[in-house]
Amino acid sequence: MATVDPHSYADPDQGRTTRVALKLDVDFESRRLVGTATLGLDATSGGHLDLDTRDLDIQKVELGDGTALKFELGDKDAVLGQKLRVMVPDGTDEITITYRTSPEASALQWLEPANTAGKKHPYLFSQCQAIHARSMAPLQDSPRCRIPYTAEITVPDPLVAVMSAAPGESRKGVKAETTTWSFEMPQAIPPYLLALAVGNLVSEDLGPRSRVYTEPEMLKASAWEFATIDDMLRKAEELFGEYRWGRFDFLVMPPAFPYGGMENPRLTFLTPSLIAGDRSLVEVLAHELAHSWTGNLVTNATNEHFWLNEGFTVWAERRINEVLEGEEAVALSSALGREALQGEIDRFGADSKYTALYNEQAGVDPDDVYSQVPYEKGCLFVTLMEKTVGREKFDHFLRDYMDTFQFRSLDTEEFLDFLELKLPGLAEKIGAKEWVYEPGIPANEPKVESARLSELKALAAGWHDGSRPDADVKDKWSVAEWLVYLGALPNDIGEDGCAWIDRTFTLTGSGNSEILCKWLVMAIDNGYDAVYDKSRAFLGSIGRMKYLKPMYKALSDNPKSEELAMKIFDEHKGMYHPIARGGLEAILGVKA
Ligand code: BES
Ligand code: ZN
Repeated sequence: MATVDPHSYADPDQGRTTRVALKLDVDFESRRLVGTATLGLDATSGGHLDLDTRDLDIQKVELGDGTALKFELGDKDAVLGQKLRVMVPDGTDEITITYRTSPEASALQWLEPANTAGKKHPYLFSQCQAIHARSMAPLQDSPRCRIPYTAEITVPDPLVAVMSAAPGESRKGVKAETTTWSFEMPQAIPPYLLALAVGNLVSEDLGPRSRVYTEPEMLKASAWEFATIDDMLRKAEELFGEYRWGRFDFLVMPPAFPYGGMENPRLTFLTPSLIAGDRSLVEVLAHELAHSWTGNLVTNATNEHFWLNEGFTVWAERRINEVLEGEEAVALSSALGREALQGEIDRFGADSKYTALYNEQAGVDPDDVYSQVPYEKGCLFVTLMEKTVGREKFDHFLRDYMDTFQFRSLDTEEFLDFLELKLPGLAEKIGAKEWVYEPGIPANEPKVESARLSELKALAAGWHDGSRPDADVKDKWSVAEWLVYLGALPNDIGEDGCAWIDRTFTLTGSGNSEILCKWLVMAIDNGYDAVYDKSRAFLGSIGRMKYLKPMYKALSDNPKSEELAMKIFDEHKGMYHPIARGGLEAILGVKA
């Protein structure tokens, strides 16, 4: 048996899927996708073919000529879903599976009109990373099994379908008042990058290769916020080489979207919480753009090697930002990243295997162990490689790496082998094995140095001695400066301290979701109850896990706001994405 992915039933020795063609009707009433998936196969050895599914209702499996094939669904596994075993004759090169998804499909969130910007039409979106694509279609759902895909998606008028693919023609659907939208993703992608959204969508061109999609109510603000995309794209190409996906479009989602961004190729998904009105949060867009090289082009072979995706991408995101915003700004982001990493190490425990870059994940749900470790420890490790050999050499290595592995998936060992081949001795010199396989942060971590960072930290550390920022910094400080300062304050500034900050800088009124979240969490920790109303409103306005988790944790950890946490959760859980809801139930100790 070939190397397997602990998160997939796929066995490449049985034959590989070479392409997928989806034909699906989007039924908002029953909350199901209904239709067929046709899988092209290369040289099946005959016997059987195992596919991944989760909560799929499989009706039949046929050969191209309509011959019915026997199939069986395995037992349900909480992490993996269900194995679909199809009995295939020797030489089968195509099978078509007729199926429908479950209303509870883990990849899909069906939104009521009330949870959209326009409040008139329903909305559907998918989120497949890491292992949810199998709840949308029966697939070899491992990032090792890359596939090009085509799709025909039929939706009720006047809704629009978009996918992580090049849009083709649209035509009237067979049923009255429906339209069928067609798509083609010619490059081979890992299944977790399959993506679909359906809603009342419009778009605006932002450059020759980029267009923003969103609901009409959000279009103007979205187009303004991300107007610099073309410049960013060109700068990224100067750093990492030609952009290899044709277009870089993106979709500004409804608030329920649980992530900051998702790098679906040709159509990045973005949380609306990035629309700050001052372009101050575009680094998330830089991050998703960077994935076009690190992650989408060169992909982790399994989720155990997730750091290859995210560690390189955080590093690449900061390289883009260095060009756009300068070194000082990047130093502050790196310091914030280091702070977040420390938070995760404290949460998992310094000896936890989840603080290693690589971790074995048999039986582990990727959503349960998602953390900043692969991101920020990964970025530290990449930075250490870069600093040790020098930027010029490292950039050269990186181009070589991306050219060699483009449109392929690799694991940590393959990476280390390539590193040794191209930069012999480096791994040994920096203790790469310890970085990759051991928990915690090795002593040779690269340190962030910046005058501004030291200044802000000193100002915050002097709080109990009476040091305070001047009132006029309110409009002068960047978002990162605020986040560094707030993060560096002692955690016992008390209600009076909070009241002073709020009076002076009106942070409770901040329109910036990053500042607002950090401020609310520290105010809640300090029992400053003047922020409770705003906290409630904030938690009802956004489904991004990065904000929900620390907010609910802070509320429920403080006896003063414990009950309120439950109340707010009951009020808004209907809007939260199932993955977010699950994570919050764990934090709040609620049984699912
Ligand atoms: N690919 C991730 C999002 C993701 C990871 C979704 C794992 C599901 C499973 C995306 O690129 C990402 O990292 N988003 C970050 C933003 C970024 C600036 C660090 C996020 O959502 O916060
Ligand atoms: Zn990422």
